[in-house]
Amino acid sequence: MQPISLPKNWTPSSWQSFPAKQQAHYDDPEALQSALDTLASLPPLVTSWEVMSLKGLLAEVQAGKRFLLQGGDCAESFADCNPSIISNRLKVLLQMSLVLIHGLHMPVVRVGRFAGQFAKPRSIDTETRDGVTLPSYRGDLVNDQSFTAEARRPDPQRLLQGHANSAITMNFVRALIEGGFADLHHPEYWDLDWMAHSEQYREYQELVKSISDSVHFSEILAGRKLNNLSRVDFFSSHEALHLPYEQALTRQVPRQWGWFNLSTHFPWIGLRTNDVDGAHVEFLRGIRNPVGVKVGADTSSADLVRLASLLNPQREAGKLLFIHRLGAEHVEDALPRMIQAMQKSGHEVIWSCDPMHGNTESTQNGFKTRRFENIRNELELSFQIHKKMGSHLGGVHLELTGENVTECLGGARELVEADLHKAYKSQVDPRLNYEQSLELAMAIVGQFQRL
Ligand code: PEP
Ligand code: CO
Repeated sequence: MQPISLPKNWTPSSWQSFPAKQQAHYDDPEALQSALDTLASLPPLVTSWEVMSLKGLLAEVQAGKRFLLQGGDCAESFADCNPSIISNRLKVLLQMSLVLIHGLHMPVVRVGRFAGQFAKPRSIDTETRDGVTLPSYRGDLVNDQSFTAEARRPDPQRLLQGHANSAITMNFVRALIEGGFADLHHPEYWDLDWMAHSEQYREYQELVKSISDSVHFSEILAGRKLNNLSRVDFFSSHEALHLPYEQALTRQVPRQWGWFNLSTHFPWIGLRTNDVDGAHVEFLRGIRNPVGVKVGADTSSADLVRLASLLNPQREAGKLLFIHRLGAEHVEDALPRMIQAMQKSGHEVIWSCDPMHGNTESTQNGFKTRRFENIRNELELSFQIHKKMGSHLGGVHLELTGENVTECLGGARELVEADLHKAYKSQVDPRLNYEQSLELAMAIVGQFQRL
């Protein structure tokens, strides 16, 4: 395929002449360079074919013919690179996507926040405890969360470990999917140990039964097994925060023009690094992957339009996602203005709603949490506002886990503040647990059907 046109004055390292926020500061530049050289020589984590196939599916999302489900941990950790955590996360995403497909009457594209979600932006550069000040924890790709000077020192070897852990995770996910784990003939493969007593599970089981009956019926009619029900596509995504790491995995490939970031299928930039004149936008504008930008109430209308012109100058379908994260309190004020700005500009984007990051609060006993009610409200309001304005919400971006955690308040089990300590495992943001995730998928369906 011929290039529409190559991005002007762009190279994988051109971001280095722009102000880069939220970067790690290494005290041994040679050790850093050596780790980056090794990284640049290693095989990529994904292929350009997969990236292009995701872009095609996202073009269907843009056209309103498919729904995007993106979800996973706020931050992956090296310690959590184990089979049960990975497969439980996959199970929840598969169950949610089944609920969505059934209720929305639309195919779903599944994108995990995994296999590389290791770098975190922080509000402040340092952390002080009992009079001791150390660099903040910036994710396992950079340093360790223990509060000692050695642990908090950015270590370039972690870049290689991050690449290896992403490869291990991706390999396991691919093997599960290829091996039949996602086979619609066997939705029981996705059952989790702790879901039997859950209210959502009963509703989910009824839905599974009705789907199984339809599959069975279609197979009788067809006189054969429907083989294309045995596998699904699963894509990876992470915040492209650590630019030297992203650069080392940005490659040219045979028989394709331009550059691909092959550290993940779908990189996005976070709210703290979305400056139009900053290094992260510069980096993202040159790659052929579909890309996302988190946008908030403070992102001006002019910046939204500049972001779209820089990141998708050729107006390619399936290329650019704006992930709005406004908070239930602000969504009605901010979202109409954002949608209108894009409509006036003539740029089309895919809108996705992150109902997590605008709804974070702290409890009196110091837990960072989110209320299920606010998460659901922001999502429902977003659907309604898009519809009212002649736009449509293409997908959701969630922080969730298949583990039985108590990090977000509310939901059908009505978790209260006193419950949070029972199984609060996140080192960064609070995640929806299995029940809350399934309940949210059902709420999405309910809202969609009421539109
Ligand atoms: C995140 O997605 O974990 C995050 C930090 O989000 P945001 O950039 O929207 O604050
Ligand atoms: Co987060």
